Amino acid sequence: MAIADLRKDYTLGSLHRASLAADPMAQFQHWFADATAVKSPGGWLRRVAIGLYKWWLVVLGAKPVDPNAMALATVDPDGQPSVRTVLLKGVDERGFLFFTNYESRKGRELDGNPRAALVFYWSDLERQVCVSGRVSKLTAPESDKYFQSRPRGSRIGAWASAQGEVVPNREFLEARWKEIETRFPKDVPLPPFWGGYALAPERIEFWQGRASRLHDRFNYVRDANGHWNLERLAP
Ligand SMILES: Cc1cc2nc3c(=O)[nH]c(=O)nc-3n(C[C@H](O)[C@H](O)[C@H](O)COP(=O)(O)O)c2cc1C
Repeated sequence: MAIADLRKDYTLGSLHRASLAADPMAQFQHWFADATAVKSPGGWLRRVAIGLYKWWLVVLGAKPVDPNAMALATVDPDGQPSVRTVLLKGVDERGFLFFTNYESRKGRELDGNPRAALVFYWSDLERQVCVSGRVSKLTAPESDKYFQSRPRGSRIGAWASAQGEVVPNREFLEARWKEIETRFPKDVPLPPFWGGYALAPERIEFWQGRASRLHDRFNYVRDANGHWNLERLAP
């Protein structure tokens, strides 16, 4: 099938102003719970329909999606954007939390310009959330707390990989990993170049696919007083 012929109609749900939370972070939490299948949106009939749909995907052997995977866009000093997937590791009053190598491309770009954007796409719910705002670094103790919760292999991996640097081959990486494993036979400390960020949202848009491309889009924008204003956008 030609790429141009790939198309689907979005019919799973709808979004109404009256059903949206006043606080977009609360709204995000509702949608995130739906995406992790803790509960499904809508009335009982829709919940049953989505439950059956998800069960059917399991029967078909479809891989579960990563509901906390998000695209993170950053910008370099020339205004050139770059984007990659990272995992959401928490949501609190500071915003959206994620962890990475501070010396990676994204880390360097965020050092130079803290403005960033995130996109979540939950295809099984026909939903998208777009976020933009500014990041700040988490404290080292907070990053350490999360770092120590990771499997030992991942902690060694963080030390072993100078994320984004050109390496000669796979063997180089594996040798480096073994070297670090020997260096830290027990505890693996937090690398000084690794940690978390919080992205404080200034704009959060919720998109629910609808039939005939007449999707529902609601956009929360924070004003200078920190109040959230909600507007419907044309799809
Ligand atoms: C599903 C998925 C989850 C990922 N999660 C993270 C993450 O949480 N942190 C991270 O640094 N990289 C993560 N990565 C790798 C990044 O996409 C990227 O390759 C890496 O961070 C280097 O990006 P940069 O060179 O643009 O800084 C993930 C990749 C995928 C596909």
